[in-house]
Amino acid sequence: MLESFFNCSMMARAQKVGLAEIHLHDIRDYTTDKHHKTDDYPFGGCAGLVMKIEPIDRLISDLKSQRDYDEVIYTSPDGEQFNQKIANSLSLLNNVIILCGHYKGIDYRIREHLITREISIGDYVLTGGELAAAVMTDSIVRLIPGVLSDEQSALSDCFQDNLLAPPVYTRPAEYKGWRVPDVLLSGNQALIDDWEFQQSMERTKRLRPDLL
Ligand code: ADE
Repeated sequence: MLESFFNCSMMARAQKVGLAEIHLHDIRDYTTDKHHKTDDYPFGGCAGLVMKIEPIDRLISDLKSQRDYDEVIYTSPDGEQFNQKIANSLSLLNNVIILCGHYKGIDYRIREHLITREISIGDYVLTGGELAAAVMTDSIVRLIPGVLSDEQSALSDCFQDNLLAPPVYTRPAEYKGWRVPDVLLSGNQALIDDWEFQQSMERTKRLRPDLL
């Protein structure tokens, strides 16, 4: 799932030009039993399986022996809610481990002793943390200077200043009688900037008043 995602588009380009390095690790490679068992029944008898502590500890120790890590993140629906501010701060770090949860969860001792930050991508439950890791990595990597070209600049993104982005249009200026706002065709940059700001404010007030 993650291999194909990380080998596409912006993510592939960032790695090709050396601006980001992404390594995928299979916890099963860190098991020692012949069935490569990574989960087990929970103590206390509730339903579901729990990811075992030993392979995850071995994997994280192995990674830490190769380089220093700024954060060891665990993806979980009960973590702090991911947002642009967290993406910005993570994009400034050198090395990050993202541990994807699965099943009912992971042995809680991993969270107590090895994890430095727990992040959720929203109030809903995914089957595993892989999609959450992909979402976070995409939003972090695109913020690394040089990954996006100037015209795609991450600085003008939605949420970058806690405002939704203004509407955008391209040619033709009129289609089926639907016209692009005149101000965008005026060539007056000050007027355009003002219009875009007003639009951002109006859309934020209407759609996401919680951001203001
Ligand atoms: N794993 C399962 N659901 C998740 C969520 N909403 N965010 C992060 N990781 C998860």
